[in-house]
Amino acid sequence: MSDHNSNKPVTFQEKLEKNIWALVLATALVVSVGGIVEIVPLFYLKTTFEDQVHPNYEELKTVRPYTALELAGRDIYQREGCYLCHSQMIRPFRDEKDRYGHYSLAVESKYDHPFQWGSKRTGPDLARVGGKYSDAWHIQHLHNPRSVVPESVMPSYPWLEHATIDGAGMEKRLRAMKVLGVPYTDEQIKNAPAAVEGKTEMQALVAYLQVLGTMVHFEPGRSYRE
Ligand code: HEC
Repeated sequence: MSDHNSNKPVTFQEKLEKNIWALVLATALVVSVGGIVEIVPLFYLKTTFEDQVHPNYEELKTVRPYTALELAGRDIYQREGCYLCHSQMIRPFRDEKDRYGHYSLAVESKYDHPFQWGSKRTGPDLARVGGKYSDAWHIQHLHNPRSVVPESVMPSYPWLEHATIDGAGMEKRLRAMKVLGVPYTDEQIKNAPAAVEGKTEMQALVAYLQVLGTMVHFEPGRSYRE
């Protein structure tokens, strides 16, 4: 009779399989190898940072916090659920670059709390919509999308033209952003109510749309990986 007929573990594998905690530990070790092999080198490669950001880091200092008016627009963008139909994340694929422009850099959303990358594209990506159309186009489009794009399924937002921004609230919103790490100065916070004084929600939303994707100045024809 071999030992296998008794319940006594013999081989290493049998011992492991009969000890639940040893098995859990060994499984975790095996599973984590894949992650470790992929992730750990990234912390040591100099090119990780440069590659994902920019060879000339100085150029990225042009990324600035939103002005009070743009931030008010960002809040309206969230309130109206624009992110449910629009992403703000251009992926590094040829077709995306051809359609929307340079792919999104992490640094471009560093002052977005929460980020607006989104995951659904009923409409086009908006990460670089800034400067693509005139303010007047956006106002007409938001008032009634079908008046400029006849086949559009985007909802109309006519009330944005009548509602005004709550100035006192803006000071608090900038302060909240500062708590989250956005470097607003005390002066910017103090001036926030005046900066949005008498502005409509439409003006704020358009100001926000017009700045999207415009903070980093890419040189035409040059990939920043070069
Ligand atoms: C139900 C889905 C839906 C929602 C919600 C929606 N959109 Fe759209 N949006 C679309 C579609 C579809 C298009 C493409 C047709 C068009 O231009 O109207 C579009 C186009 C746009 C464009 C033009 C983009 C380009 O590059 O031509 C802008 C800007 C835009 N939407 C902004 C917004 C904003 C701001 C909101 C929130 C206030 C919003 N959208 C909400 C579906 C949506």
